[in-house]
Amino acid sequence: VTGGAAEFTLELPGGRSTEIAVGPGLLAGAAPWPVAATVADRAVWELHGARLPQTWRRVVLPLAPGEGAKEWSVLGELLERLCAAGLERGDCLAAFGGGAALDVGGLAAALYLRGVAWIACPTTLLAMVDAAVGGKTAVNLPGAKNQVGAFHAPTRVLADTELLATLPEAELRSGLGEVLKTALIAGEELLARLERDAAALLRREAAALGPVILACLRTKAAVVAEDEREGGRRAILNLGHTFGHAIEAVAGPGTIPHGVAVAAGLGCALELAERTELLEERPLRARVARTAALLQLPASLDELRRTSGCLLPAPALRRALDRDKKRAGSRPRLVLPRRAGEIEFGLAVDEADLLAVLA
Ligand SMILES: NC(=O)c1ccc[n+]([C@@H]2O[C@H](COP(=O)([O-])OP(=O)(O)OC[C@H]3O[C@@H](n4cnc5c(N)ncnc54)[C@H](O)[C@@H]3O)[C@@H](O)[C@H]2O)c1
Ligand SMILES: [Zn+2]
Repeated sequence: VTGGAAEFTLELPGGRSTEIAVGPGLLAGAAPWPVAATVADRAVWELHGARLPQTWRRVVLPLAPGEGAKEWSVLGELLERLCAAGLERGDCLAAFGGGAALDVGGLAAALYLRGVAWIACPTTLLAMVDAAVGGKTAVNLPGAKNQVGAFHAPTRVLADTELLATLPEAELRSGLGEVLKTALIAGEELLARLERDAAALLRREAAALGPVILACLRTKAAVVAEDEREGGRRAILNLGHTFGHAIEAVAGPGTIPHGVAVAAGLGCALELAERTELLEERPLRARVARTAALLQLPASLDELRRTSGCLLPAPALRRALDRDKKRAGSRPRLVLPRRAGEIEFGLAVDEADLLAVLA
């Protein structure tokens, strides 16, 4: 890979691995890796399809833009189209789009002929820092997000930062929420970089985006390498998500962008860590709140209530916490920070502390 790109390898059990590259314009240099069919978010294809190597564009399977693609019926059609196109066991698929297109394309690759190789080409900030790496693929069932899926890691991730120029503002903000979460997991260096480069990131400057995306990918890859199937430690990637999912559920699907809900969820997790005296780095809560503000993200539930116009009543949030998939038994299990770079998971907390944070 050329043109100011950075790359590294995520080693997985069983001799599998994912080659990960980040940089401006790197899709243009992807021709050396043969691709028999490209599954693409239709809207992204119209904007950026011409950036893919000519050979990747011979068989293109367009998907409905965004979350609408993550349907059982869409997956079924996709598999039929792969069969009709004559794809064989040794062929490689590419998935081109945000997390939604990657989730469906990756799942199709997992299922077709019991598994063919695939290359993830993420086109949103969220997909570059999160969805593209880690091997989770999924579609939704009615009312049940990501209910059907498989672990099937891509052989390669190509994060071409030039694609972010056309990303809608709300999607950029959503990705930055996930970046802030990752910085809390990664620790001091990335957190300081975010503080320093927040304005440049909002302006989508390549020089700021590239290193941040790379650091996020390295952080997630390190966690996934240790615990690919989420038997334990991979749960720390859900920092801010127990609260974030509850916020999204109460606000109603699609009302508050995922990463924005996660940012408010981080505020909740920090407040809870402070209340329960788990938080050892006392200034961290205020520091993350300042960084969130620099990234134009909400730092707390109250701020999100004010800015979104959603009421988000505490009792409804509390009920939604109980419905979250990632609970164990009857009580919510939480992921909370001890300090930047040191995250605990599987924690049960006092009901009174939980309610105080939601109030
Ligand atoms: N597998 C995982 O580990 C994982 C991790 C995080 C999220 N996800 C999944 O990812 C999905 C969310 O993905 P997302 O936030 O990337 O958004 P998305 O795929 O839903 O896309 C959002 C919108 O942005 C548009 N878009 C995408 N790239 C664009 C570009 N470069 N320019 C202009 N428009 C563009 C799309 O057409 C769509 O309308 C969810 O379904 C979530 O469950 C999966
Ligand atoms: Zn998330």
